Amino acid sequence: MGGWQSRARDSWRGRHVLTTAGWSEPQLAPLFDLAELYQQYTAEGIGLRTTSPINLLTLFFEPSTRTRLSFESAAHRLGINILAVPDASTSSSSKGETLADTARIVSAYADAVVLRHPRIGSAGEFASAAAVPVINAGDGAGEHPTQSLVDLFTIRAAFGGLAGLRVGICGDLKHGRTVHSLLRLLLAHGCQVVAVAPDELALRHADTAGSADSLRSTTDLRAVLPDLDVLYMTRVQRERFADPAEYERVQGVYRLTVEDLELAPSHLRVLHPLPRVDEIAEEVDDMPQALYFRQAANGVPTRMALLAAVLGPERFVVTEPGSGMAA
Ligand code: NCD
Repeated sequence: MGGWQSRARDSWRGRHVLTTAGWSEPQLAPLFDLAELYQQYTAEGIGLRTTSPINLLTLFFEPSTRTRLSFESAAHRLGINILAVPDASTSSSSKGETLADTARIVSAYADAVVLRHPRIGSAGEFASAAAVPVINAGDGAGEHPTQSLVDLFTIRAAFGGLAGLRVGICGDLKHGRTVHSLLRLLLAHGCQVVAVAPDELALRHADTAGSADSLRSTTDLRAVLPDLDVLYMTRVQRERFADPAEYERVQGVYRLTVEDLELAPSHLRVLHPLPRVDEIAEEVDDMPQALYFRQAANGVPTRMALLAAVLGPERFVVTEPGSGMAA
């Protein structure tokens, strides 16, 4: 791997992955190249192993299917050992242990930690006490930086690049952590973004500061569809509402249908971090515009690339045929 690329890739080594703030295109490009390589290895049945044992702890204090399984699948494909706490509410935190103490303890057991926690800022708090790299897999309504890697990788594969794309982000923009992490990257990559949400679920100011030229807002999804290349749908985040009546008032506010797709250019691609509730009608799944299941599958190669970049790519080598066999 050439000079600038290995330097850019090295910028991930040993680092915490807590937020997408400050991520640059030159830093992301080698990660996506590595993800493509790993995707190809998987397709060709080429296995990987570590040059010395590596343990990854997945510590999830909130439900997860895709993120957890794709991290664990990625780790297995790299030959990393997984330490999983099946339900973190059964860990010592339920006895009152602080996150910082948990971080200190598990640093002795694992070479890196993937953490999901319901509180904004929890990943940063955990990381400041940890002696190993911490990857934020969602801190409440805060951020979800690794989902953004999956999202950008998927858009890049579909369109060849990001600059100039017109992207609609629709749904719960107030509580959606995937949106908070993704929005700044889209703006940094030269996309024109339309935020589509009812007033109650609109973006917070911090997310939109300083982006007046390339970001606009509307409540009307159908009106913007003709002008979009990418539509990123999100669910209303029920678990973030203190008052269930408030959730009931806004849930179901948008529902993308096949008829809606007729308003959009035929090259429109629809993404969704999933899980879907009812914001995309199931018949959309069979349309060429639907990219969300491929997006979910892309979680594995992108997280393989991230884990390798953080832990040191030279520690992962292709398995020699027959190397796992007893002599
Ligand atoms: C997202 C999350 O957990 O924030 N899911 C995911 O990681 N793919 C989106 C969501 O839950 O709505």
